[in-house]
Amino acid sequence: MPNSNIPVITIDGPTASGKGTVAHKVADRLGFHLLDSGALYRLTALSAIRRGTDMHDEHALSKVAEHLQVRFHGGHIYLGTEEVGNAIRAEEVGNTASRIAALPGVRQALYGLQLSFRRTPGLVADGRDMGTVIFPGARLKVFLTASVEARAQRRYKQLIDKGFSANMDGLLKDLQSRDARDTQRAVAPLVPAEGAHILDTSAMTADAAVEQVLSWYRALGH
Ligand code: DC
Repeated sequence: MPNSNIPVITIDGPTASGKGTVAHKVADRLGFHLLDSGALYRLTALSAIRRGTDMHDEHALSKVAEHLQVRFHGGHIYLGTEEVGNAIRAEEVGNTASRIAALPGVRQALYGLQLSFRRTPGLVADGRDMGTVIFPGARLKVFLTASVEARAQRRYKQLIDKGFSANMDGLLKDLQSRDARDTQRAVAPLVPAEGAHILDTSAMTADAAVEQVLSWYRALGH
């Protein structure tokens, strides 16, 4: 099948909107592959932090992104041989990811890697610019959002469940500044793609959001 005929569902939205969980479950239900594009920015951030790369050096950071030794396998994420699924969820890594994601060179370096996830029978792609930049021809585009308070609550629970310490006020401030950076950057800012279905999940369970996405997909004749 030509690559461009492989169906793609894009799920974009702000941090902690629940899009990771929803994308994962939609991919499972359809038997599709999953691209967690945020993980690629987080992996680049983690790798740069560990190498002591200058966070203002766009060229050096682009090289880190270009040479990422990343492997997704059985729900685990590896950087080289090390499992880093939890390490990349730390707030410091998320904040660094959000900063370096504003650099065009870093985004360009991760472009081809993201396209390579489009494999049969289909792909669910989760991120900020999946529907606007990476897969503009996607069959279904969803923009998942939730109030900043609902998202801070979710992030708090996620961190505590993973054994990290967390502070609600700090999380709210972090989310607000990350939202501002993600929506106001010049390159690939976080905005709903043209034709995207907007879903506010503030008062919705992840399962209800999954059903809504699947019903939009079915309505396209799938
Ligand atoms: O979805 P996430 O929180 O794991 O993403 C981490 C950061 O990466 C986020 O603050 C912005 C950036 N990002 C991006 O710029 N483009 C994407 N497609 C995905 C994430």
